[in-house]
Amino acid sequence: MPRFNFGIIAPSLKLLRPPLVKLIRLLLLIVLIVGLSPAQGQEPILNFKNRFLPIIASHGMVAAPEKLASEVGVEIMRRGGNAVDAAVATGFALAVTYPRAGNLGGGGFMLIHMADTDKQTFIDYRETAPAQAQRKLFLNEEGEVDRMREYFSHQSAGVPGSVAGLLYALEHYGTMSLKQVLQPAIDLASKGFAITFALDAEFASRQKRLLQDPEAARLFFDKNGKRRAVGSIFRQPDLAWTLQQIRKRGMAGFYEGPVADRIVANMEANEGLITHADLAGYKVVEREPIRGTFRGYQIVGAPPPSSGGTHIIQILNILEGYDANEWGHNSAAYLHHLTEAMKLAFADRSRYMGDPDFTAIPVEQLIDKAYAARLRERINPLLATPSADIQPGIELGHKSCDTTQFTVADAAGNLVTNTYTLNFSFGSHIAVPGTGMLLNNEMADFASRPGFANAYGLIESEANSIAPGKRPLSSMSPTMVFQDGKAWLATGSPGGSIIITAVLQTIINAMEFEMNIASAAAAARVHHQWMPDRLLLERGVSPDTIRILEDMGHNAVISERTLGRTQSIMLQDGLLYGATDTRRPGGWVASY
Ligand code: DON
Repeated sequence: MPRFNFGIIAPSLKLLRPPLVKLIRLLLLIVLIVGLSPAQGQEPILNFKNRFLPIIASHGMVAAPEKLASEVGVEIMRRGGNAVDAAVATGFALAVTYPRAGNLGGGGFMLIHMADTDKQTFIDYRETAPAQAQRKLFLNEEGEVDRMREYFSHQSAGVPGSVAGLLYALEHYGTMSLKQVLQPAIDLASKGFAITFALDAEFASRQKRLLQDPEAARLFFDKNGKRRAVGSIFRQPDLAWTLQQIRKRGMAGFYEGPVADRIVANMEANEGLITHADLAGYKVVEREPIRGTFRGYQIVGAPPPSSGGTHIIQILNILEGYDANEWGHNSAAYLHHLTEAMKLAFADRSRYMGDPDFTAIPVEQLIDKAYAARLRERINPLLATPSADIQPGIELGHKSCDTTQFTVADAAGNLVTNTYTLNFSFGSHIAVPGTGMLLNNEMADFASRPGFANAYGLIESEANSIAPGKRPLSSMSPTMVFQDGKAWLATGSPGGSIIITAVLQTIINAMEFEMNIASAAAAARVHHQWMPDRLLLERGVSPDTIRILEDMGHNAVISERTLGRTQSIMLQDGLLYGATDTRRPGGWVASY
């Protein structure tokens, strides 16, 4: 904050009579204070109340888990592209520079806010089960789940949606040509880029399993199966070829023709299920996002087949009835109520959630404020309720008319939040020969055996059983928050089931605890998903607080791994505030 020295002005006033001097001085003081202070109700651009500060810019910003891909997006905007053009370019670039999760062979969700029409829309490009996939696909003769086949085989791959999703977004909401947004990714794949510490760490963490697939071994390691040196150039000519096919022929360049031929040949040679008909028949679904409110904020989130938006809003509805600020951020009282709300929501997730095109899902009841009030009554303020005593859907309410509040945003810039995935890091760890592309293992997100825990320990019902053409239930939660109708915050995270609670806490930290976006992202997180009955806590929650939580009956466990990895942008007073989660290396907020 600039400071002003009154002494400079005062001597020139000496000649005036004292009462007049006083009056003029007073008026000057008022003018100066008003002039130098931020407008009423607004925070100054930079305040130092928070221990972490976001990146600030005014034109365009991309927060992503990898630097080059972030910069690709910003460059697209510098050249006149909009946020969707930049998102699509970043999505394709991450498929090259961030192979553990950026992808052509996976799927995801993109939530878009268009400023000119004030429209938010949700692009669902989740993978689908191949036509040959049946309910008992992964069960062995004893009726148990064959985890290796579910996670690491050609059968674990759903029909990829990423290429279709990115192209759909570009065609409907972008402004640039496919060539313009694809070229940076093609260049990164063909010319290569220097291996960073972060990329090397990603290869190291999955080296053993990647080496089990000859094509993945060939793509990511040297001839002897060793990692290439940090700083050496990593080229991916096969991936460049696949991207060029897409550049030439759009959707058909991937879902038909030589790329499709290579995918199907690899499937046929390895008992995989994806056929030419599955690929050619893949369809993006544009859906209405799910909407809720929290005090003066409007939440716009991911609808089914994601469970994210529904449960984030459900938990916010429960918490709205308490004064969390009064308890204090990450106090025992706050974490207790937050945890109990998470348990109730995840219990409902286990029963109701799945692909809405296959099963009726009571979304409106789940996000009904009256239902949240009834759930609140089940929370003991002093004691943890054992998860075994929480049954999903008890007293699930009638259909409500007042919960899906529709709020129109004022123009404050286009916004996109996108989460896409191969499921595990490097997906099934299997690459399709000649394409440079990894296969997802998203079939593992189905309930292979309803009622039993999946890879994320999540229990799910028949609503998420395997069926041909069905989309597996997801936790991916690209989320936006609007304040008084103005776009205010966009975020999302990886982390399986932890996505829901990581995104939830990031937005609560901003809305309820008034943290700036960097601090909201950095604050220690907790996670509970009903089953197993275990409260995971990041290091950073006070040991004293943890002891109180244990005394209340929580099975508190310090997580060996950090929880989630958000990429967030907040908009305020015409400025963009960005924060890449500092929990993992390599993330970057590019801006101009
Ligand atoms: O869709 C889902 O919920 C999961 N396939 C997401 C996977 C994930 O976030 C893995 N990241 N750590």
